[in-house]
Amino acid sequence: MHKKIIAGNWKMHGSLAANERLLDLLLAGSEDLACTLVVCAPHVYLAPCARRINGGGVRLGAQDLSARNGGAYTGEISAAMLAEVGCQYVIVGHSERRRLYQDSDEVVARKLGNALAAGLAPILCIGETMAEHQAGRTHAVLAAQLQAALASQPQPLSQQLVIAYEPVWAIGTGLSATPEVVQAAHQFIRCEVGRIYPTASARIPILYGGSMKPENAAALLAMPDVDGGLVGGASLDAADFLAIARAVNLRDQ
Ligand code: 13P
Repeated sequence: MHKKIIAGNWKMHGSLAANERLLDLLLAGSEDLACTLVVCAPHVYLAPCARRINGGGVRLGAQDLSARNGGAYTGEISAAMLAEVGCQYVIVGHSERRRLYQDSDEVVARKLGNALAAGLAPILCIGETMAEHQAGRTHAVLAAQLQAALASQPQPLSQQLVIAYEPVWAIGTGLSATPEVVQAAHQFIRCEVGRIYPTASARIPILYGGSMKPENAAALLAMPDVDGGLVGGASLDAADFLAIARAVNLRDQ
């Protein structure tokens, strides 16, 4: 069984100095954790973060990658570049990328394939909007996003894949989904992944993201199909992020 994963998505926050301070506090507090702690930093801070981590108890991830593998693509960053500077994880298909930067299902699938091929662990984000949620379309949306991202992968899914269920309506709103709603969605996701990749689904970690805080983390992380969290706002505060990580109980592993 994998350790649960608590991943922080720093989004476009911080500065070199602020992020280094945050990372130092996380490194100092990461020694006795029962989970794998990951920070997904903005691209320009990845190399300095990797130098600071230097074998310590925090893993490094990026927030996005290119759908291309190299060449004349101004401003793009490839999967190989991320791996080279010390990333082990990369977020793929976050709803902010899908909604604000037009990452289509096809682009998300290409990014996912590139990440897997470079040996990174992609954290594939899926989730429904409030309108879809209220219309009772959550399962249909999740199934379509999974199918689009996974079915076209040229290689069998390796051990690397991580999925994050992030209902769009719960992101940055303070409105976390209840543990029961999250468990039902995760169970459905595991079942759907099992239809696409029958042998892999039991061991693929499924994280929950959307207003996870120290106050609600323990109840969410105690659900049987919740294998960790993808944390936005609360990951910018070392005490809050470590409190979420400490909510992972050794018994839950
Ligand atoms: P919040 O934790 O701020 O709701 O953000 C969640 C998220 O988008 C993580 O990727």
